[in-house]
Amino acid sequence: MNAAADHFEAPDRNLALELVRATEAAAIRAVPWIGKGDKNAADGAAVDAMRKFLGTVDFEGVVVIGEGEKDNAPMLYNGEVVGTGRGPRCDIAVDPIDGTSLTAAGRSHAISMLAVSDRGTMLDASSVFYMDKLVTGAAGEGAVSLELSVGENVRELARALGKPVGEVVVAVLDRPRHQGIIDEIRSAGAGTRLILDGDVAGGINAALDGTRIDMCLGIGGCPEGVATAAAIKAIGGFIQGRLAPLDAEERARGEAAGLRMDHIYEADELVRGDNSIFVVTGVTDGSLVRGVERVGGVVHTESLILRAKSGTIRRIQATHLASKWLED
Ligand code: FBP
Repeated sequence: MNAAADHFEAPDRNLALELVRATEAAAIRAVPWIGKGDKNAADGAAVDAMRKFLGTVDFEGVVVIGEGEKDNAPMLYNGEVVGTGRGPRCDIAVDPIDGTSLTAAGRSHAISMLAVSDRGTMLDASSVFYMDKLVTGAAGEGAVSLELSVGENVRELARALGKPVGEVVVAVLDRPRHQGIIDEIRSAGAGTRLILDGDVAGGINAALDGTRIDMCLGIGGCPEGVATAAAIKAIGGFIQGRLAPLDAEERARGEAAGLRMDHIYEADELVRGDNSIFVVTGVTDGSLVRGVERVGGVVHTESLILRAKSGTIRRIQATHLASKWLED
C-alpha cells in the first residue's frame, strides 16, 4: 500500500483511544474552575491541557473547526497544526469546553469534545458563526427535514417513531431567537426540553436511544454543528444543517469562502465519508456523560468514544491520580 492510500486508512482505532486522553485532560484541568464564575479561566485551562495532549498524539491534525482565529490565542485556532506530525493526516474539530458558561456557573451538561476525520473531509464553515440544525435518531431519515415546518417535523417524527405527538420531546437552546420554534413545537402538541447551552450534547442525545429527547432543533454554533455531524455518523442518526449568517457581510464572507448559504447540508456534506471519530468527556454532570469528579486523591472521568467506521459507542470510565494533575 502506498503512503497516500495509507492515509485513507486513518483515523484508526488506536487514535480514538489516544484522543480521549486529550478530552479527559481538558475536563480534569477545568475542575478548579467549575462553579467559580470565570468562564475564560475554565476555557483557558481546558485549551492548554487539550493542546498539550494533542501534541503527544501520533497524527498530523489540522484544526478546521477551532475556537477562532490565531490572534485570539490561547485558543486552539483554525488552521493550527496539532499532533506529532507522524501518522494519519486528519481534520480536527475541537471544543475544549462546550458549555463554558455552564462550567463557570457550576451547571450541568458541560462537555469537552473533539472530532477527527480524514484530511479534507470536514466542512470548513469557520467564516460563518451560526448554523440552523435538525438532529434526530435514525427514524428521522426520510421523515424530517429543514424544508418542513417545525409542526410538520414534529408530526412526521412522531409517525416515524410510532408514538403520539404528545410524547415527542424536542431540545432547543433557550434563546429569544427560538421563541417562534418553541411556540410551534408546543402548538403541535409536543414538549420542549429547553437547554441553557450545549447543543452538541443536545444533538447527540436526540440521536441516541433512551435519552428522552427525540429531536434537537434550532440555531447554534457552526463548529458545534460540524462536530455533532461527526458524532451522528457513528450513532447512525440524522442531521441536517443550514448556515445562518448574522448579516450581509457575514453572508458575503461565507460565500467568498465557498459556502452555500441557503443550502441544506446533509451529514455527508458536513463530514464526508465514514472515517470519523468523536470523543467527549463530561465536565459537569449531564445525561450524556457524568462530569469530572475529584474524590480525595483521585479524579474520576467518564467519556464516550464514537467511531463512525465501526458504528461503535464506547463508554470509558477512568480514575486518575489527582496529584499528577491538580494542585491541592
Ligand atoms: P461555548 O461554551 O463554546 O461558548 O458554546 C456554548 C453554546 O451553547 C453551544 O453549544 C451553542 O452551539 C452555542 O453556544 C450557541 O450560541 P449562543 O450562546 O450565541 O446562542
